[in-house]
Amino acid sequence: MQYNIKELNNWRSNAVSNINDKYYIETWGCQMNEEDSEKLSGMLKRIGYESTEVKEDASIIIFNTCCVRENAENKVFGNLGALKALKAKNPNLIIAICGCMMQQKGMADKILTTFPYVDIIFGTHNSYKFPEYLNTVKQQGVQVKEIVNKEDKIVEGIPIDRKSDIKAFVTIMYGCNNFCTYCVVPYVRGRERSRKPEDIEKEIKDLVAAGYKEVTLLGQNVNSYGKGLEEELTFADLLRRINSIEGLERVRFMTSHPKDLTEDVIMAIKECDKLCEQIHLPVQSGSSRVLKEMNRSYTKEQYLELVKKIKQEIPDVSISTDIIIGFPGETEEDFNETLDLVKQVEYDSAFTFIYSRRQYTPADRMEDQIPDDIKHARFNKLVDAVNEIIAKKNATYEGKVVEVLVEGTSKNDENRLMGRTRNGKLVNFDGCKESVGKLVNVNITRAQAFSLVGEEV
Ligand code: 5AD
Ligand code: SF4
Repeated sequence: MQYNIKELNNWRSNAVSNINDKYYIETWGCQMNEEDSEKLSGMLKRIGYESTEVKEDASIIIFNTCCVRENAENKVFGNLGALKALKAKNPNLIIAICGCMMQQKGMADKILTTFPYVDIIFGTHNSYKFPEYLNTVKQQGVQVKEIVNKEDKIVEGIPIDRKSDIKAFVTIMYGCNNFCTYCVVPYVRGRERSRKPEDIEKEIKDLVAAGYKEVTLLGQNVNSYGKGLEEELTFADLLRRINSIEGLERVRFMTSHPKDLTEDVIMAIKECDKLCEQIHLPVQSGSSRVLKEMNRSYTKEQYLELVKKIKQEIPDVSISTDIIIGFPGETEEDFNETLDLVKQVEYDSAFTFIYSRRQYTPADRMEDQIPDDIKHARFNKLVDAVNEIIAKKNATYEGKVVEVLVEGTSKNDENRLMGRTRNGKLVNFDGCKESVGKLVNVNITRAQAFSLVGEEV
């Protein structure tokens, strides 16, 4: 379905916003949510709003929520509570809440009772209708709550206001069919749906025409891209088509489920010049027994075999991962298997999580939930092991010259530039400001715990 841009223009001329009205968006969770927020921002700008980083200056505040772990949810509750005072001071303030948390059974009603000053509640499948909801609140002064559970259509052509003008996220598929036993994503994001390749190509070509150099293709499980499309197409086919887009410099993608990462994708990375040597390959656990309980459909041995193949075929590849500690029934032996796997793979980076019970998931009903103190002790041990490996790997870059796409000035030092290598390493370096947006060679002089330091050559 094509987004009705004309309607947005009508709202603009109907003055849904007043001159200089500002919006503030806070986003929790993954890149999918980041991209959804960029679309909310795109629609709001089209009807005349400006963005602000200061809540107090905003006439609309939007919270785009995540529910993958309990602590993300708690942060949203805390932040919503704090808005009460702001609303009392400014009764015209419009508060909207959306995202994955809203798709959970009973959550929208819980929010309405606990935080009655919230004006708009919507979910992940209907965020394109936000301007309409805003119009209703403004015209009729009523609360709007609409959560849609059907996920049959993909809406193309929503205006998007991206954070960077050098690299962009491009969603290629929505939803997930895997039902890992700990995870709420399939319940809140629905079943897998792939965008048509021509829509993806058009979006990327438009980005290149606007000066973008890099895209990251997004999906919960990009390797199952293409199922259900009229045209027969695999993820590897899509990668090869995108690789031929002129003017594009780099292509990344995430996330790859180890059970679905096929040899043709590995060969595509090896053979296509724009595909970066970087794979995010969440392992979740190093124990085959726990992996089975998690419904991950691979064993530790199969995962290690896959990593071996990737490393053999793609020189300088960097592999990152997600790991969950303290899954129900995880023994000390299971945990040691995870430590062992981490040491064998030598990850370039790892997102480590403490298992969080999620309502309605099978793992929440499992016996033998692990006590918090054991979870924390294992978590700290894992983080130490991971950090040691990352530091060791980063040290191998000292004295090497690497290609960096320059993204801007460094976070902590205005006089320095920052960018990433092809395989995703963050580099802070001395160079000339004209290099922003370009590919440059950087000589690495020093490795730090999570980044590299160098100078442009
Ligand atoms: N508890 C902890 N971590 C989780 N993840 C998903 N669900 C949970 C949970 N219930 C992690 C997985 C996934 C990442 C996005 O979040 O590691 O890959
Ligand atoms: Fe969640 Fe598993 Fe789907 Fe990833 S693959 S989103 S962990 S269910």
